[in-house]
Order: sequence, then structure tokens, then C-alpha cells
Amino acid sequence: MSRFTDQVALITGGSSGIGLATARRFVAEGAHVVITGRDRRRLDAAVAELGDRCVGVAADVGDPDGVDAATTAVRERHGRLDIVVANAGTGTFKPFAEITVADFERTVAVNFRGVFFTIQRALPLLAEGARIVVNASWTLHRGNATASLYSATKAAVHNLARTLAAELGPRGVRINSVSPGYIDTPMYPEAELDPAEAAANRGRVPAGRFGRPEEVAAAIAFLASPEGSYINGQDLIVDGGLVAVVPGG
Ligand SMILES: NC(=O)c1ccc[n+]([C@@H]2O[C@H](COP(=O)([O-])OP(=O)(O)OC[C@H]3O[C@@H](n4cnc5c(N)ncnc54)[C@H](OP(=O)(O)O)[C@@H]3O)[C@@H](O)[C@H]2O)c1
Repeated sequence: MSRFTDQVALITGGSSGIGLATARRFVAEGAHVVITGRDRRRLDAAVAELGDRCVGVAADVGDPDGVDAATTAVRERHGRLDIVVANAGTGTFKPFAEITVADFERTVAVNFRGVFFTIQRALPLLAEGARIVVNASWTLHRGNATASLYSATKAAVHNLARTLAAELGPRGVRINSVSPGYIDTPMYPEAELDPAEAAANRGRVPAGRFGRPEEVAAAIAFLASPEGSYINGQDLIVDGGLVAVVPGG
């Protein structure tokens, strides 16, 4: 399949996990990608793997200058954008009573403000019919102890996607979110979790396993592709049934 021939995609947090799997998928289907991340070495390794269709920008989406650096790089290299994947995010999981103002500010800066301004700064570059996918989380659909701060930011970005679907619709732009479940990535590495926590998580999923980043990338690519042409303002949950199902029930 080559659904993205010569299209230009910006993927924040494209140096690892779901973002990197998405970048691989887009490049395999003919796109040019601009990926961001803070760690230069990880970014360089991703660019080396993805080849000359990929540019890496070392930038922190939690910093407004980092957001501008990413869109400036897109403008200078390609002059336009067909796809934005606002994927970079950070997890803060603590009991509600222990969350500090610093936790709050950092998490909101990356997960909400970063997504908000990545999309806003991308607007002048968006081609007619561009597509935007925001990476949210299954935790916006179910109460989950210790996830108050993280889940609220993910609910915020899904809500933003709905609003922007209305605002940007007249330009032919579609915007949706994806909500991954337990996905085995460096952010949530199955092998490094407490074995009891990992087993409990698997037990909540009918298939009895964590998801792979490629499985979320496939959903992002679907939403960004012509097959998703009449899907707008939605959240696509990619969680193996975690939210919807009581396993074995
Ligand atoms: N894994 C899961 O189970 C899961 C479940 C639901 C939702 N999600 C969401 O999926 C998204 C991707 O997570 P992942 O699991 O693929 O994690 P990951 O493997 O740790 O990748 C995160 C990517 O984002 C980049 N990043 C993190 N903070 C950044 C910042 N402030 N500025 C720019 N780049 C930043 C990282 O690079 P640097 O560290 O070098 O900056 C990396 O490229 C996140 O939004 C996360 O909330 C994940």
C-alpha cells in the first residue's frame, strides 16, 4: 500500500514507541516525515533508520520555542503539511493528593499546551484536506486511580480535536484522536513493570496481552488515509477491548 506518496507528515515524539512506529509506516507508504523528540541520540538513531525521507528536530513540545522549532523545520524543508500527528506525551501517575504544582505544570505543558500549539502553529502550513491525529489515551474513557492529571490532559486533547473538527472542517481538514490501551513502549514497558501489575493489566484485556506500537500506528495511518475520509471529531480506541469489555464475564 502507498497511501501517502509524497505527502508531508509532522510527528511529535517520533523517535520512539507509537510515534516511531507511525513514522515507519508513513515512510513505508511514501511519505516524508519530520519527527521530534528531546533526546538527540534517539532522534538520530530514528533518522538513520528511516532514511532520507526523514528529518529529525530536537525540540521539547513542553516549551513554546520547541513547538515553533518543529513547524519552522517543516516550513523550511517542505513548505507545507498534509498530516500532523500530535503524539508526544508524558505520564505522571500519582495519587491525587501527591500531585505537585510542578507535576501539573509540566504535564499540562507537554500533553495539552504542546498539542494545542503544535496544531495552531501548523495551521498556516496545512494543505487543503490535511489530516490531524492526536494521541490521547484509554484513560480518558475510564476512571483510573493515579491517573487524574494525565487523564484530564488526554480528555482535553480529545475535546480539542472535536472543536477543531468543527473549526477546520471548511478547509477540508479532518481531526481525530486515538486512545491507546496498554501498549508496550519505553513509556510503559511490559517487561519492566511490576509482574503483578503487568499480569493484572493483561487480565483486563480479552486477548490477554499488551498492544504493540505498530497496532496503534496502523490506526493512526487509517485515520490519516483516504479510508478515513468520513471520520471526523472521533476518538478511535485501540486497546484490545480494555475499555469496552469485562474479560471472561
Ligand atoms: N504506551 C502506552 O501504554 C500508552 C497508552 C496510552 C497513550 N499513550 C500515549 O502515546 C503517546 C506516545 O507514547 P509512547 O508510549 O509511544 O511513549 P515513548 O515510547 O516513550 O515515546 C514518546 C515519544 O515522545 C517524545 N517526547 C516525550 N516528551 C516529549 C517532549 N516534551 N517534547 C518532545 N518530545 C517528547 C519522546 O522522545 P524524548 O523522550 O527524546 O523527548 C518519544 O519520541 C503519548 O502521548 C502517550 O501518552 C501511550
